[in-house]
Amino acid sequence: MKAALLVGGYGTRLRPLTLTTPKPMLPLINTPFLETKLLHLREHGIREAILSTGYLPTVFDEYFGDGSRLGMKLTHITESKPLGTCGAVKNVEKLLGAEPVIVCNGDILTDLDVRALVDYHRAKGALVTISLAPVEDPTQYGLVPLDEDGRIKEFLEKPSWDQVETNLINAGTYVLDPLVLKKVPRNENYSFERELFPELLEKGKPLYGFPSDCYWLDLGTPEKYLKAHEDILEGRIEVSIKGKEIEPRVFIGKKVRIEKGAKLLSPVVVGDEVTIGADACLGPCVCVGNKVNIGAGSRVEDSVIMNGVTIEAECEIKGSVIGNNSYVGRRTRVSDCSVLGDNVRIGDGNELSRGIRIWPSTVIDSERIKFG
Ligand code: GTP
Repeated sequence: MKAALLVGGYGTRLRPLTLTTPKPMLPLINTPFLETKLLHLREHGIREAILSTGYLPTVFDEYFGDGSRLGMKLTHITESKPLGTCGAVKNVEKLLGAEPVIVCNGDILTDLDVRALVDYHRAKGALVTISLAPVEDPTQYGLVPLDEDGRIKEFLEKPSWDQVETNLINAGTYVLDPLVLKKVPRNENYSFERELFPELLEKGKPLYGFPSDCYWLDLGTPEKYLKAHEDILEGRIEVSIKGKEIEPRVFIGKKVRIEKGAKLLSPVVVGDEVTIGADACLGPCVCVGNKVNIGAGSRVEDSVIMNGVTIEAECEIKGSVIGNNSYVGRRTRVSDCSVLGDNVRIGDGNELSRGIRIWPSTVIDSERIKFG
């Protein structure tokens, strides 16, 4: 069976991180997210995948090539303009063959039992099967109520509480009979969720839902990007973590120098060639990339620090993301879901908070920003 992965979006809600790296290629516990996703599919017997790219396509090609390193066959197809979720799959129709295919949004972290989804699709004789996940507040989402046999009754967009008859929403993985693409317009922006699926339902076609209580999270925003890290670090979803586990859920890479008095509070992951200065404290819920320097006495918690970052002495980084090769001057505080893009330079004594986002290569002098 083949998979088509939708990885061509701009990832605007995750800017500035996605200005330099497409969302599916952002590191998740020091591995590009899409690698984790492909390995999950491979575990479920899928060896062949088509990457439907658009935005920054060379990043995918340079990292994965033909997929042989992962033991998979990957084909990259790049759109010249965004075709939307369904238009993107229509665009690769010729490569799909006649058998049902798996279609995945490229930004969803899940441990879905893909084999069970496919078996269910076949057993039901469905044209489309949508994986469904329960949510706490159904009024915020598009709901997918089912009949007793699992057939989709309707698509209910952000219902009021008196309309709520299910808490199941579309979880972004589908099994699709390629026949459904026949009437989709070629080279036009077209959506599964807003166009094709409601149209098929209207025509009475067999669309089924596959509810499961698997782990599920889309990495669409900085909050969710941090949450995905937290969930992996806390072990809520099993993802393989590089490095040596020196204490329960404390992983460190090669050539890590931990100076006197420095502490690592579980769960924490530290990459290769990292120096943690005297009396610095990392954790809980921290992921540090490769070639990072953490200055003496600095504290980092609930945060992601990407490759090549320097954090000088006596800083405090809390609930935030620091992009590749950025520099944070002494006594600077970064908190409250702030996001620094790549190659940012923040001088000494700044205080960044309230979800501030700093664009790549920005330079901020010392003592410039303080939130009252
Ligand atoms: P935002 O701009 O923040 O909404 O992100 P996005 O558009 O990148 O992602 P969204 O959550 O809207 O889309 C879900 C998945 O579909 C992501 O993995 C996107 O990369 C992918 N995707 C969205 N639009 C397109 C498209 O037009 N073409 C292709 N090939 N993929 C798309």
